Amino acid sequence: MKKVSLFKELFCPDCNRTYNKDEIVNMCSCGSLLFAGYDLQQGRNLKKETLERGQNNQWRYRELLPVIDPDSIISLGEGCTPLLELNKLGYDLGIKNLLLKDEGFNPTGSFKDRGASCGISRARELGIETVCMATAGNAGGAWAAYSARAGIEFHVIMPEDALLMNKNESNVRGGNTYTIEGLITDAGAVMGEMARENGWFEVSTFKEPYRVEGKKTIGFEIAQEMNWEMPDVIICPTGGGVAIIGIWKGVQEMVEIGWLSRDNKPRMVAVQSTGCAPVVRAFQEGKEDVDYWNDARTIAGGIRVPRTLGGKWLLKFIRESGGTAVAVPDSEIQEMVERTAKKEGLLLCAEGAAGLAAIPRLMEMGYLAIDERVLVLNTGSGLKNPILLTSESQFMLKSIKN
Ligand SMILES: Cc1ncc(COP(=O)(O)O)c(C=O)c1O
Ligand SMILES: [Zn+2]
Repeated sequence: MKKVSLFKELFCPDCNRTYNKDEIVNMCSCGSLLFAGYDLQQGRNLKKETLERGQNNQWRYRELLPVIDPDSIISLGEGCTPLLELNKLGYDLGIKNLLLKDEGFNPTGSFKDRGASCGISRARELGIETVCMATAGNAGGAWAAYSARAGIEFHVIMPEDALLMNKNESNVRGGNTYTIEGLITDAGAVMGEMARENGWFEVSTFKEPYRVEGKKTIGFEIAQEMNWEMPDVIICPTGGGVAIIGIWKGVQEMVEIGWLSRDNKPRMVAVQSTGCAPVVRAFQEGKEDVDYWNDARTIAGGIRVPRTLGGKWLLKFIRESGGTAVAVPDSEIQEMVERTAKKEGLLLCAEGAAGLAAIPRLMEMGYLAIDERVLVLNTGSGLKNPILLTSESQFMLKSIKN
């Protein structure tokens, strides 16, 4: 395959320092996260029509992804997930054009595969032999899978009460899996130490620049599937904020290279649980960064993230897009899991259901209009989390004795 990536350098959005793209670097010396920069001038020659003939995974956008040699790409078929119309649920909620991008179709059942495919491919290209991370759960399963395929050693630490599936899938895929009593932030502190002591390359959220690049392909796909007309609003369940930051970065790149018109950018909405809503609080208080949320609790483990390293950029991008941030109680998340299953036949993850559960609130706030095109990101499959189905579902089983 031809070398086509327009990846040019790494840059710090805070102090503008740039880094050679082949340097193995986690974050900027100023403490900020780093982004991958591309030759977008050259990108103006990219024809979106050629994408129609591309591969059936996220690497169809490889010109705008940071892997130089296509032979380094580690893919399990991530991306190209379905975009579904939710007509019945939309009718109930008072939204004429309700869409769901179903990331549960990814190889390990969540959108984490996009970042893992990109991050592990780049790690392999840079000759990195061992990577490690802290996770709320799903990223552990995803990065274990891509590490296994790449032959890279993987160490992961997650909360003891992460989903059983997340612990087991990381382990069985060959990841050295550790658990800790506490939250992802506690896991992160321990993993930071272990990485320093052992010389492992840390790939926790925003501690390396490549995961977010995989996530931005969600935005590319939405644009392509909607015939280069973005929806008015994209609702994202938000923990670390990689999806919002990635999608928005992708939108900006699409505008720069002429795939999207400047006035066709979506408003980005972050959704959290009322039991852990640091981004919502910071947004509402007009803060520039996200402060730690004490006593984080929610059934949606992926968004049980009390603080994020990307807080500053997350808030900036939400505001820049004309977006907002809302929190919903767990009871409404749970209810929405069942309602979507009954109405549309879809078993969403709790995080994705939180995104849908935010719609009545956004309507009450006058933020959404009835005829706007609203897209909700279902970040993973409900199959990973059977306890989400209440005991009521069990009572309704009809057992036939013979
Ligand atoms: C299912 C699910 N949804 C949402 C998130 C939050 O991800 P983001 O970093 O994009 O906010 C996670 C992260 O662990 C997750 O596993
Ligand atoms: Zn910097």
